[in-house]
Amino acid sequence: MPYNRPPPEQRSRQPDRFYSVAQATAYHSDANASIQRDLTLLALSLLPPAAATGRLLDIGCGSGLSTAHLPPHAVGIDMSLSMLQIAAASSESSFVCGAAFALPFRDAQFDHAVSISMLQWLSEKQLVRFFQELSRVMEPTGTAVFQVYPLDLAHAAEMVAAAQATQKCATLVADFPHTNSALKWFLCVEPQRSAETTCERCPLARRLHGTCAYRFRVARRLAPGRLLHEHLQYAWHAYRKVARRRVLESSDAPPPKKHKKERSIFPNEEALVVALEAALGERLTLDALKAASDTVVNLVHATYTAVEAAVEP
Ligand SMILES: C[S@@+](CC[C@H](N)C(=O)[O-])C[C@H]1O[C@@H](n2cnc3c(N)ncnc32)[C@H](O)[C@@H]1O
Repeated sequence: MPYNRPPPEQRSRQPDRFYSVAQATAYHSDANASIQRDLTLLALSLLPPAAATGRLLDIGCGSGLSTAHLPPHAVGIDMSLSMLQIAAASSESSFVCGAAFALPFRDAQFDHAVSISMLQWLSEKQLVRFFQELSRVMEPTGTAVFQVYPLDLAHAAEMVAAAQATQKCATLVADFPHTNSALKWFLCVEPQRSAETTCERCPLARRLHGTCAYRFRVARRLAPGRLLHEHLQYAWHAYRKVARRRVLESSDAPPPKKHKKERSIFPNEEALVVALEAALGERLTLDALKAASDTVVNLVHATYTAVEAAVEP
């Protein structure tokens, strides 16, 4: 049976009530600890490297599953007392009870901030107030990284617009926090930067018509993590599908009935293989793709962006 329960933020608009003692205890499980650890470490890796030594705020810290992976001087804030009681019992960090949209801190008290699985709790109005509060309590040079669960494109746009309304640069990117290929969304809010000219799209981030974090990371000299591996796998998979179809087309035997779904090749995959062969030669190997990984990522993005642009009005 598929698990169809809506996420907590759709079942309640009041996190402090939703996270009762029982709910907070259930949330603080080993399974969630492992998921939230991966999300937190990935969010940290999207902050400037110096952030680890700065004054760090964990917004919507809950039972401390995210705060546990931040430097010990980090401060956590949450609306739910039940969540905070568990956090305080299991961590040496400081925890404060309060709402994200009325932060009980002094101006410029923090250098940077992270927030894991919290932002989707805020209504559109609360989002606007929250980002005003964040820009008050964070140094103007600070960066904040939010791991978020936008419902859809409009919800993602609301988050970005609320952050940009405080004159910050807000970029929504997909990244790979876990060892499997499940991607998650991160909203990175930074001081205004000179505009990044590229608006390329990535087939790995197609759900929200978005981009992956590769370009974001390269522009800030941050390590690409699993992003390279996932793009290389994508390119290799596309190449193998096209190569297999070519073999079938050149043979008189009827095509096998099995793996029908796997044989469908998307227009951007077709375009990608043509572009890869033009750049790297016709007999591609996974090693050849690995050796030219930056080119491969560029072509994955360029071909997808071009094909999407051609089908959109
Ligand atoms: C899914 S939990 C995530 C907790 C923690 N960051 C983690 O990674 O385990 C979301 C948390 O956000 C908190 N939250 C939601 N809306 C909030 C708000 N407006 N102000 C403060 N905390 C909020 C909830 O109380 C809850 O503890």
